[in-house]
Amino acid sequence: MTAHPRLGVCYYPEHWDEDLWATDARAMAELGISRVRIGEFTWSHIEPHPGRFDWEWLDRAVETLAGENLGIIMGTPTACPPKWLVDRHPEILACDARGQQRKFGSRRHYCFSSPVYRDEAARIVTAMASRYGSHHAVVAWQTDNEYGCHDTTISYSAAAAEAFRNWLKLRYENIQALNKAWGTVFWSQEYEDFAQIDPPCSTVTEATPAHRLDYWRFSSDQVASFNAMQVDILRRLSPGRDIVHNFMGFYTEFDHFAVARDLDVAAWDSYPLGFTEQFWFSEPQKREYMRQGHPDIAAFHHDLYRGCGRGRMWVMEQQPGPVNWAAFNPAPLPGMVRLWTWEAIAHGAEIVSYFRWRQVPFAQEQMHAALNLPNNKPDVAYLEVRQVTEEISRLAPLPTADIAPVALVFSYEADWLLQIQPQAKTFRWLRLAFEMYEGLRNLGLDVDIVPEDHDLSPYKLVIVPSLPIADNKFANALQQLSVPVLLGPRSGSKTTNLAIAPELPPGSLSALTGVTITRVESLAPRWKETVHVKERVFHGLTWREHIETSLSPLAAFSDGSGAWYRKDHIEYLATWPDQEFLHYILSELALRAGLGVQNRDSGVRTRDKGMIRFAFNYSTERRKAPAPPNAEFLLGAQDMPPASVSAWRLISK
Ligand code: GAL
Repeated sequence: MTAHPRLGVCYYPEHWDEDLWATDARAMAELGISRVRIGEFTWSHIEPHPGRFDWEWLDRAVETLAGENLGIIMGTPTACPPKWLVDRHPEILACDARGQQRKFGSRRHYCFSSPVYRDEAARIVTAMASRYGSHHAVVAWQTDNEYGCHDTTISYSAAAAEAFRNWLKLRYENIQALNKAWGTVFWSQEYEDFAQIDPPCSTVTEATPAHRLDYWRFSSDQVASFNAMQVDILRRLSPGRDIVHNFMGFYTEFDHFAVARDLDVAAWDSYPLGFTEQFWFSEPQKREYMRQGHPDIAAFHHDLYRGCGRGRMWVMEQQPGPVNWAAFNPAPLPGMVRLWTWEAIAHGAEIVSYFRWRQVPFAQEQMHAALNLPNNKPDVAYLEVRQVTEEISRLAPLPTADIAPVALVFSYEADWLLQIQPQAKTFRWLRLAFEMYEGLRNLGLDVDIVPEDHDLSPYKLVIVPSLPIADNKFANALQQLSVPVLLGPRSGSKTTNLAIAPELPPGSLSALTGVTITRVESLAPRWKETVHVKERVFHGLTWREHIETSLSPLAAFSDGSGAWYRKDHIEYLATWPDQEFLHYILSELALRAGLGVQNRDSGVRTRDKGMIRFAFNYSTERRKAPAPPNAEFLLGAQDMPPASVSAWRLISK
């Protein structure tokens, strides 16, 4: 199968003088852009007073873009309820964990659970879809904008409390079942009626963990049903168009697999430099990758969202230059915007769309770069986009990506549970999953990131970073496989109600793994557990389990007890491995899986798309593309300058 990747741009006609629209549209088309996203923050501009619509300006903007054959991705404007709506219905506002109501004046101030807001959102989406749903230029819809951005998934409003009680009634049916599930006999917390239950906030110390996990599940379901409500309207009034949402990077507060189930495509917003600055990377890594971004961040999300979108993924917002929102905002190295674009395409992006067409000189994002400067002269990224459009027209159609050899099992619920009960301040599930992904990519392996109920049978190697709630179905699915499977620490350790598994961890995975965990310890960053594997010495960080088993360990702590075990094809890890230990483990697994590996520690990453292999040089030095001497290069060459891309045809795999 082949496909023709497309480039797009985010455009805000309402920010600009109307005189500019036609020249903008022409310049986009001339640049080779064929998709333009508009509309997602326009509510106060299309409905300035309740029930009084002003569509004319948007009609003209749509016609102007359509006149240049640009396909429009129309955003529903529900991320920004206007002032009049908030004043009329302050109950639509979300509340933070201290019960403080969010205020008007930025965006995403609504509560997913407000029935009034759901009605209002349905009304504006219906109005917009009725107006533009059958317009030939409208090729897709984006629901809302970045659900959860600015910490807005979980709200503690009165509406959320009410909806939570109803959610609990459906889940538990009677209050005794809830008391038992949550263990409310502890600290005298028993309830007589669902009506007595509040959201788990502002308690003196930690609220009941099962209560918190249910609140997280509930909040996630609220996002999914809010999205489904919009999708239903759009499908009815705008049939045949792709419906997408733009998800975020390193964001797990709701189950993206569940939300994406109602969508046609999972899109995401890629800001590699901002993410490198804002997340857990070490100072040396931040320094090394300051202008390129950590080499696995973009790829990790491409693979995750391809999994969410059941094979279909777009980048809706691509960082074009310095952003405005991280603690520090450096500029990408020249070439990075092109590199990120090709990397997205190599990982299966059907569309890569840049945020935004022109830097806006006013309001919150005036310091955020764009393809064009505020004076309308091209900025650096513009020229890189020009190069990519020329390259795409030379190379397209391109083969679509195959199933990767490795599956990494991703669980949003695992991340919630381990945030509720980290036991070590530094135990973050998302980081563990990312480090395992990074380890695989360092070996040159392509990865599919999949939910736990995904069919794992096509894969040659399965990595489960940690799955605290593992049911029998999952255990059976792993049992059926014959390829190597790695289970990370804390897998199977909890029941659905966040209690310790009755047979002790790893619970339903006990028979499969052949181990029983009798004690766990968490370790401060000042301490590393020494681990011995044959003659080699590695370290376990943050976490250590004490195991009873008749198996002999593959690796042992200094006191002789096991850190890594294998029973048949299933391997169990009793610690958080440091980089070297992880590298050793993954190399061994890859070997047993029959996968050829190459060490890519040098900042070069590869990705196959059918019979084309791409290489990306994230380092600040020249590197050699890992291509055979007689390779036929489609992009670049064997000698790779910093921030460059090479691609060549594979003769065989
Ligand atoms: C995204 C958001 C955009 C814009 C952008 C700036 O999170 O969807 O509206 O704010 O960041 O980088």
